[in-house]
Amino acid sequence: MNAPTHSPISPRALYDKLAPLDQSSYGLEACERYAEQIAQILRLKEERKAIVLAHNYQRPEIFEVADFVGDSLELARKAKEVRDADIIVFCGVHFMAETAKVVNPGRTVLIPDLRAGCSLADAVTAEALAERKAELKQIYPDLKVVAYVNCTADVKALCDACCTSANAVKVVNAIDSENVLFVPDQNLANYVQENTSKRIISWDGNCYVHHQITPAEVNKVKSSIPGIKVIAHPECRKDVLALADAVLSTSAMVNYARASEADKFLVVTECGLSDRLLMEIPEKHFYKACKLCRFMKMITLDGTLDSLRNLRYEVNLPDEVREGARRALERMLELSA
Ligand code: 13P
Ligand code: SF4
Repeated sequence: MNAPTHSPISPRALYDKLAPLDQSSYGLEACERYAEQIAQILRLKEERKAIVLAHNYQRPEIFEVADFVGDSLELARKAKEVRDADIIVFCGVHFMAETAKVVNPGRTVLIPDLRAGCSLADAVTAEALAERKAELKQIYPDLKVVAYVNCTADVKALCDACCTSANAVKVVNAIDSENVLFVPDQNLANYVQENTSKRIISWDGNCYVHHQITPAEVNKVKSSIPGIKVIAHPECRKDVLALADAVLSTSAMVNYARASEADKFLVVTECGLSDRLLMEIPEKHFYKACKLCRFMKMITLDGTLDSLRNLRYEVNLPDEVREGARRALERMLELSA
């Protein structure tokens, strides 16, 4: 999604725009405060020659200052293309901001809050991966390592290729090895295993947001709303994915919902995506899984304003880590082209 607006928005217009969302968070008073912050951020963006990239799970008010909103793959591609701006303010989680720095090292990359981490990225360290890789190489000499982008740059640097939820199966099928160690998401690894003839060796990591969603929750909605389509993110458990009509990345969910003839969807992923869907496709009905990523929600308009004012927090990486991660990310882009 490209920028919804580049000019300041009035509190009333913002209130009307956010009307489909939870009114306890987006009353007129809150919209007055947000509209003022949005105007200040838009001014500062111009002064600083900055652009804002935002993930689909961000708060709806953040979309108002974003030049681009998308999934991990789209954001990596967008970050690489940035030429006219000196600064990229990344409204997402830390590994995504690192990726922006890796693919576009000439720009200053800022993340508004350093607490915006990721439970998946925390599940694997470079040391543990190096050890496991060495062990498995003894058993499978052709072993290749594919890293879901939800990991740190030093983990990426140890991998043969990265992938995102949008291209995981494609990357694994295209890599020149029959045996693949897939890190760090076990649920995504299981999903890939079901869609490839290769041997997938998984890592013991998961996203705490998606992993907590149960088949019982999905079945309850399915049975009470006839005709509802279930769209799920591949970070969900296998028994949840088995109930889905489609397993998709966050942006692919938006495209699916827009193109589908159905008008009711259960959106089985972090609830920020449902907010985007509710605002963008008001003629359809979206039921959310109501799971919140506390890391994504660390990013606020307050933090973004502070980031632009004080040029913090800058994301930097040692050259060898950046180069290793660049190689794995570029390989992903080649394999999934
Ligand atoms: P997408 O790449 O599908 O947006 O997923 C990112 C993510 O962190 C999901 O939890
Ligand atoms: Fe990480 Fe899960 Fe949050 Fe995505 S939703 S950023 S995988 S913790």
